[in-house]
Amino acid sequence: MTAPFAMNSFKGKQVLALVRDGDYAHAGEEEAIELAMAPIARDPGRDLLDAGCGLGGTAAYLQRHGWGRVTAFDIEPRAIEGARRTHPGPTFLACDIVAAPGQLDRRFDVITMFNVLYALPNQPAGLRALADVAAPGATLAIFDYVDTGAYQRDPLIDAGGPFLPHPVKRDGIESLLAGSGWRLQETKVIDETYVGWYVALVAKIEAKKAAIVARVGADGFDHVFGLYGGLLERLRAGVLGGALVYADRAG
Ligand SMILES: C[S@@+](CC[C@H](N)C(=O)[O-])C[C@H]1O[C@@H](n2cnc3c(N)ncnc32)[C@H](O)[C@@H]1O
Repeated sequence: MTAPFAMNSFKGKQVLALVRDGDYAHAGEEEAIELAMAPIARDPGRDLLDAGCGLGGTAAYLQRHGWGRVTAFDIEPRAIEGARRTHPGPTFLACDIVAAPGQLDRRFDVITMFNVLYALPNQPAGLRALADVAAPGATLAIFDYVDTGAYQRDPLIDAGGPFLPHPVKRDGIESLLAGSGWRLQETKVIDETYVGWYVALVAKIEAKKAAIVARVGADGFDHVFGLYGGLLERLRAGVLGGALVYADRAG
């Protein structure tokens, strides 16, 4: 079967938002935001940057729940148009992470990345760009997939390209951050939590079959179901995992 569209596309994000009941394109939706942000005190007066915000649900949640005055950006202009229409609170802009320092007019005390690092072709350059817009002592919170060592031997393919292009290797996180202007504070392993979220997500995809077929056809449904089923398989096999990573701006 030829995959009719890529999940890593605007259309893919729309299908996912349909399944997830909200503008979230990360595992665990609001539960994941609460988990990732639990160590970070709420402060509505602080400047917070959500990098790779997608459809803007996370940015809006963070502002609504008092974590800061949120600015958010994504490389996909249509996602940003949608985010602006749907979520009036945060400031949204369309830009590539590596161009962020030239586009942002302030420094941020907290920077978040929800399932974004794995998508970056040049992770050191992306993280360095975030360090350049970080206030002294700023905190970076990363929520992402991790490759526990063997994922790349049998990666998932999405419409001819990798579904998870660059999941960071668990044992490479500290050096990646250190080379990009950040000092690792803590990594929390959340592999089992990820498994639970993907069990629930695959069940939701099945439950929303009619709506997905209406949007992207029967082949489209099979593609989505196969990808997320494949992710769940790999999470269960332990070749993929989940991590929460906290770092401080170095220097
Ligand atoms: C899996 S989605 C997560 C979206 C959002 N953080 C969320 O949790 O709903 C990954 C996002 O990263 C964005 N992205 C990928 N490469 C990027 C880049 N170089 N600069 C900015 N955003 C990027 C994609 O457009 C996509 O919206």
